[in-house]
Amino acid sequence: MAWVEAGTIENIPAGRVALVHHEADDVRIAVCNVDGQFYAIEDVCTHDGGPLGQGELEGDEIECPRHGARFCVRDGRATLMPAVMPVRTFPIKIDGQRVLVGTESE
Ligand code: FES
Repeated sequence: MAWVEAGTIENIPAGRVALVHHEADDVRIAVCNVDGQFYAIEDVCTHDGGPLGQGELEGDEIECPRHGARFCVRDGRATLMPAVMPVRTFPIKIDGQRVLVGTESE
């Protein structure tokens, strides 16, 4: 597991989303702060590739800015059409003030 820094606890306040690009895996990740708990999903909607991290985060659901599909950021499942497939999720680790996202590379 390789860990990349998405930001600090302070600069990703509750209700906000931080975007990080993991270059080794070439994956864009949206890190979401839900009432102080951090969750990470791929920044790519499973409906048609929309930039999920630019969508509105409401509670633990994020809305795709392209056609309005919603996903639970805790487990990635699609909760509203037109998306039906879940979005990929990633583990989060807090190291002091740093918010780290885990990806598959070594
Ligand atoms: S691309 Fe996200 S709802 Fe269509």
